[in-house]
Amino acid sequence: MRTLALPAPRRSRGRSAVFLAAAALLAGLAVAPAAHAGDGRKAEAATLHDLAEDHGRYFGSATDNPELTDTPYTELLGEEFGTITPGNSMKWDATEPQRGVFDFTKGDEVVDFARAHRQRVRGHTLLWHSQLPGWLTSGTWSADELRAILKNHVQTVVKHYKGKVFAWDVANEIMNEDGTYRENLFYKTLGPGYIADALRWAHQADPKAKLYLNDYNVEWIGPKSDAYYELIKQLKADGVPVHGFGLQGHLALQYGFPGNLQENLQRFADLRVDTALTEVDIRMVLPSDEAKLAEQADWYARVTEACLAVKRCVGITVWDYTDRYSWIPAFFEGEGAALPWDENLKAKPAYFAIRDALGVRPKKT
Ligand code: G3I
Repeated sequence: MRTLALPAPRRSRGRSAVFLAAAALLAGLAVAPAAHAGDGRKAEAATLHDLAEDHGRYFGSATDNPELTDTPYTELLGEEFGTITPGNSMKWDATEPQRGVFDFTKGDEVVDFARAHRQRVRGHTLLWHSQLPGWLTSGTWSADELRAILKNHVQTVVKHYKGKVFAWDVANEIMNEDGTYRENLFYKTLGPGYIADALRWAHQADPKAKLYLNDYNVEWIGPKSDAYYELIKQLKADGVPVHGFGLQGHLALQYGFPGNLQENLQRFADLRVDTALTEVDIRMVLPSDEAKLAEQADWYARVTEACLAVKRCVGITVWDYTDRYSWIPAFFEGEGAALPWDENLKAKPAYFAIRDALGVRPKKT
């Protein structure tokens, strides 16, 4: 896999954050730097989500079902974030393990957790080339059969979560790096029209849900993000219900920061769709050290600032919040430490940098 090497443009960072922090200090609102639940002490600073809400945004985390038995983990998950994305439990292999037989047990568990903590849920994902059930990938389908299977899957899942999921990644990772369509099962049998169909079917099933296309390596302007730009422009022109573009945000220090992220977000906003950073993590070659953690913190701040600078960038989700449950070490040998909290749930410099970028203030009592 996957992240392309990019030049790392430097820039002077965090003026708005510095300004807000200074303003807070002048107003007598100083927040003790380590006063946070992640440090095992009573929370005093406003949560990342509360701070994001000050800007009309959300701040969320992915989670996965096995993690929900880890009480120190769930305490922070329930308190710090305003939205939750199930990392695996709404994918096709989980929700329709046999043809026409749906299982919402695990997805419901995540939704129940979120509702108990007054959090909203991002649905992930209705169609993807990965984590498809065996019956689907091993079958031989005519176009009519596959269309019916896809429609039934999309509509059954979206109807089940109607009113409980505010946004769906309808189609995930449907483009190649060079901006051509990924030749997944659906493309090969149905051609590119499956994307508009899936969006229309999802919209019929829940007209209020925001419908996204979502991918990685699209944070910068290049062939892959250009392809989404053109596709979304065309879908809008055709009256297809597409409401957002999700930029996953799986970044790596060794490949450089996507310097034109803000400009990229803005061009999608100009197409009249929302954007969201949907799966952010910033990995590094291990071992981590002070310099790498400082650079990572700077990148988290830059991602946050880019989103805040674009009105239709509606929120940021980290792909789980702690290194304890990151997917990175299992997929990229020798890399990790990608999230704002470490394996012991201790807040890292990245957490404080995000907090500063959002304009740190005390919790309202
Ligand atoms: O469920 C099985 C379990 O029965 C088995 O014992 C265990 C043994 O390895 O594997 C379990 O499945 C794992 C699954 O996560 C659930 O935990 C898979 O091996 C593992 O490959 C899978 O990884 C997920 C990955 O998607 C699959 O591509 C990650 O948790 C999940 O975070 C990751 O998420 C994706 C997004 O959906 C799309 N964008 C990229 C992102 C990171 O890859």
